[in-house]
Amino acid sequence: MSNGIQDKVVFITGASSGLGAETARHLAERGARIAIAARRKDKLDDVVRQITAAGGEARAYSLDVTDKVQVKDVVDAVIDDFGRLDVIVNNAGLMPIRPMVEVNTDEWDAMIDVNIKGVLYGIAAALPVFVAQQSGHVINLSSVAGIKVFAPGGTVYSGTKFAVRAISDGLRQEVGAHIRVTSIQPGAVDSELKFSTSGTAADNVLDFYKIAIPASSVARAVAFAIEQPAEVDVNEIVLRPTAQEF
Ligand SMILES: NC(=O)c1ccc[n+]([C@@H]2O[C@H](COP(=O)([O-])OP(=O)(O)OC[C@H]3O[C@@H](n4cnc5c(N)ncnc54)[C@H](OP(=O)(O)O)[C@@H]3O)[C@@H](O)[C@H]2O)c1
Repeated sequence: MSNGIQDKVVFITGASSGLGAETARHLAERGARIAIAARRKDKLDDVVRQITAAGGEARAYSLDVTDKVQVKDVVDAVIDDFGRLDVIVNNAGLMPIRPMVEVNTDEWDAMIDVNIKGVLYGIAAALPVFVAQQSGHVINLSSVAGIKVFAPGGTVYSGTKFAVRAISDGLRQEVGAHIRVTSIQPGAVDSELKFSTSGTAADNVLDFYKIAIPASSVARAVAFAIEQPAEVDVNEIVLRPTAQEF
């Protein structure tokens, strides 16, 4: 009997490290057919090797999610290679924490381009496919910072994660009759994300992440959303370290 994950084709962006890589390994163990994308192809190839060595199926695709043409081309390539697409996990993201008064518009641009536009480009590429097949599942990575503003320092990051949560719920209202939409909202999870902060807030971020829980906690949350029967749409999952207040 199907476990709700077996044989599903799952495409994950930002899977060269952290939550994306761990989710790829976890879903592959549960029988999903995995397509992973990011800019660092060597890291993706390592993940593919780990999955195939464990008996799973995976392929890697070089991708910068800020380029909508590339995102569409890669999603098309995944469908060519695997024959279908069942789930897209829009996970690529970055979190340069810095007080607003230190004005760094390059970091603001990067967060908007990757955390918001990257998610929209993923949706743009997958949605026509899901509409045509009358099924599919969009899973977006928001954050607890998408529920409560994380300030000072995380104001723009929170803005992007509020946007991801809003876009997820709006998409669900628009296409929810056949297509499932899930927003995952984690607290501090161990990954490379903490290193995307440089400058004055770097030490505080590393300190905050001392209580981080493993990436496998998010991988299991993603699996939970996917494995539900088709008529059950898990819309939001919030998880954080037991010890985390924010
Ligand atoms: N860790 C946490 O505490 C936490 C909490 C809440 C939400 N999240 C969210 O979870 C998601 C994954 O983060 P993580 O914690 O796993 O961090 P991570 O280890 O730093 O992973 C981020 C991933 O995003 C990819 N990426 C960044 N820019 C990209 C671009 N332009 N094009 C394609 N891929 C890009 C990176 O790959 P390349 O550098 O190889 O491109 C990497 O694979 C993010 O959206 C983050 O905001 C994380």
